[in-house]
Amino acid sequence: MTAYETLLATLPSQPKTWLVTGVAGFIGSNLLETLLKLNQRVVGLDNFATGHQHNLDEVQSLVSGEQWANFRFIRGDIRQLNDCQTACEGVDYVLHQAALGSVPRSLEDPITTNGTNIDGFLNMLVAARDAQVKRFVYAASSSTYGDHPALPKIEENIGKPLSPYAVTKYVNELYADVFARAYGFNTIGLRYFNIFGKRQDPNGAYAAVIPKWIASIIKDEPVYINGDGETSRDFCYIDNAVQANLLAATTENTDATNQVYNVAVGDRTTLNELFWHLHENLLPRFAHLQEFEPTYRDFRAGDVRHSLADVGKSARLLGYSPSHRIGEGLAVAMQWYLGQKH
Ligand SMILES: NC(=O)c1ccc[n+]([C@@H]2O[C@H](COP(=O)([O-])OP(=O)(O)OC[C@H]3O[C@@H](n4cnc5c(N)ncnc54)[C@H](O)[C@@H]3O)[C@@H](O)[C@H]2O)c1
Repeated sequence: MTAYETLLATLPSQPKTWLVTGVAGFIGSNLLETLLKLNQRVVGLDNFATGHQHNLDEVQSLVSGEQWANFRFIRGDIRQLNDCQTACEGVDYVLHQAALGSVPRSLEDPITTNGTNIDGFLNMLVAARDAQVKRFVYAASSSTYGDHPALPKIEENIGKPLSPYAVTKYVNELYADVFARAYGFNTIGLRYFNIFGKRQDPNGAYAAVIPKWIASIIKDEPVYINGDGETSRDFCYIDNAVQANLLAATTENTDATNQVYNVAVGDRTTLNELFWHLHENLLPRFAHLQEFEPTYRDFRAGDVRHSLADVGKSARLLGYSPSHRIGEGLAVAMQWYLGQKH
């Protein structure tokens, strides 16, 4: 049995109280679904900045009435310390996901990104420390590797940040580290690498590449590739990120805490490969795809050229073992997007 299989078998008989911030978003709502299905109690905090009520409604439709009754939603803002304090009351584990994602958003409006991702993060740390939660797991980012050229990415070797967003995610790590040293607070940072899957928002100027391209292909709208398409990413299916969060929150390995971990698969896919994979798989359903080609345009500022993770540390210290590689994850994700009303 893997560490995660053992955890899934034991958690239902040991219900705990979890706070998921950003619960109405993509990763937060997937954490909520998994935790409720494991009969856990969940407090959710969100201000709907980029999350949606329909994500919560979908989770409600996927769990039993009894499980849904274990969920308490707080509409609030992590930039308000009292909202964070209310949310942390009586909580065992915090899974802090709330933030403003997107490199281009941070380049256009660094002040708002900073307010949520740094001030909000610090509020959550203080509130969780004062509430004496057992562990504070937070969403870090592969953008922290910045301009460091080495591949694969190993946790201790980072470069200079390439965007305000990357600065905020690195500052999160610095604050978490200081809270460990100064207050003995217990944290784990998860550097997500391009997570994708159901409920990731396909709409808006700052949508991530996979949901945006699937939606565009389905609707016969142009797909834009920034640069030559040889930019590469370690695309990671949502179930792997959920696994990493649950393992990080509950690990009893004392060497594992107050550390950051890569959350990825360890596979590298170029944007060209991604496009043609989606095209090939959607072609049988959409006649217009016979002639469909991507449109190439300039490279985008702030983007890392290549991203590929070494997941050895996550495997060694947390027992992380990704359940889905990109093709398997895309198959599930595409089915979900095809089932949505357009
Ligand atoms: N998706 C990825 O590939 C990826 C990669 C690296 C890091 N991350 C990080 O993972 C976390 C979750 O990302 P996601 O992809 O689910 O994005 P998302 O936008 O779907 O979810 C973020 C959620 O946080 C909420 N939120 C934003 N500001 C808030 C505030 N001030 N107060 C309360 N709630 C607020 C939003 O409404 C939303 O529901 C973020 O911290 C993000 O930076 C994601």
